[in-house]
Amino acid sequence: MVAWRMKSLIALLALSLPAIVLSTSCDPSTLNSTTYLYPITTPNTTVFDVAKATNRGVCDIGRQNLMADVTIVPNVGQTLLIPPETCEPDNETCLLPNTTRTRACINGGPRNYYTVNGDTYDIIARRLNITTESMTALAFGDVPAGPNDELAPGQFIKVPLCEPSHCVIQPYRFTWGVYKDLAEEFGTTVGQLMMLSPTYNYSSKAFLPGGEFPSMTILVNCTEGVGNETVLT
Ligand SMILES: *[C@@H]1O[C@H](CO)[C@@H](O)[C@H](O)[C@H]1NC(C)=O
Ligand SMILES: *[C@@H]1O[C@H](CO)[C@@H](O)[C@H](O)[C@H]1NC(C)=O
Ligand SMILES: *[C@@H]1O[C@H](CO)[C@@H](O)[C@H](O)[C@H]1NC(C)=O
Ligand SMILES: *[C@@H]1O[C@H](CO)[C@@H](O)[C@H](O)[C@H]1NC(C)=O
Ligand SMILES: *[C@@H]1O[C@H](CO)[C@@H](O)[C@H](O)[C@H]1NC(C)=O
Ligand SMILES: *[C@@H]1O[C@H](CO)[C@@H](O)[C@H](O)[C@H]1NC(C)=O
Ligand SMILES: *[C@@H]1O[C@H](CO)[C@@H](O)[C@H](O)[C@H]1NC(C)=O
Ligand SMILES: *[C@@H]1O[C@H](CO)[C@@H](O)[C@H](O)[C@H]1NC(C)=O
Repeated sequence: MVAWRMKSLIALLALSLPAIVLSTSCDPSTLNSTTYLYPITTPNTTVFDVAKATNRGVCDIGRQNLMADVTIVPNVGQTLLIPPETCEPDNETCLLPNTTRTRACINGGPRNYYTVNGDTYDIIARRLNITTESMTALAFGDVPAGPNDELAPGQFIKVPLCEPSHCVIQPYRFTWGVYKDLAEEFGTTVGQLMMLSPTYNYSSKAFLPGGEFPSMTILVNCTEGVGNETVLT
């Protein structure tokens, strides 16, 4: 009897402790738990603008809409599914860090990158985890632009490939997250996942009645081959 009381007391403490901690900074009962559709009506509205306007984390919106990348500027006419408010909006974990990149080419493939709104050679190189110079050097003939010049959306741009290298391609049903999450899980890059599904940006319908999770192909286990590396351009 005493032992049981002790146990339930401990359980009670364990349950109430996080609630006490949270209530000092954020009261969950004041949060708006509504999920609703937010239409993009003005050109150049970013997902960051939508996050600010709705008081949600940009990454929470990104994952709720199965976005390729939250830095892609939505088109007018698109709608985004706004998730419930949370005490800790996530504005960070879906963004690619600005790390020093050393590789000059990608493993495996594909060959061409299809530009989306807001792309620059620097942004594309970051999504592919290769140096910006390796993108501009290759692309100057095709689509001349400086590393930070905005590229028109809807054009194919060649990407340098490492030889030898390979990836395994396989079918995948995208049920949660952003491409960065998939890239980390499967050992590939956001840019290569974008190259595999060139017209996919996001899905606001997946979580609505009658919606479907997008089916796509992904790359897994991308690796350098054995032998001296050359860059195919
Ligand atoms: C939650 O947000 C929606 C959309 O902005 C709004 O229509 C609704 O009134 C809000 N609910 C509460 C309880 O504030
Ligand atoms: C949207 O951005 C593009 C490219 O940055 C620019 O050319 C255009 O003028 C902008 N449109 C508006 C309405 O701000
Ligand atoms: C994250 O974004 C939301 C909405 O834009 C904002 O209210 C919040 O202060 C931001 N949080 C952090 C830690 O930057
Ligand atoms: C990324 O980091 C480099 C070097 O630290 C810096 O020069 C560059 O401005 C940064 N780019 C962005 C977009 O923050
Ligand atoms: C994705 O965005 C690009 C421009 O950023 C656009 O060309 C393309 O049509 C979009 N795809 C869909 C399915 O909306
Ligand atoms: C980028 O490539 C380097 C090797 O050049 C690797 O160590 C790092 O984990 C990669 N980062 C991402 C985010 O893919
Ligand atoms: C990927 O690599 C891991 C570890 O080497 C292996 O267990 C797994 O079977 C590989 N997956 C595919 C699809 O080749
Ligand atoms: C790789 O490069 C080294 C040094 O340049 C060279 O000695 C070697 O023969 C090369 N190996 C192959 C398989 O080409």
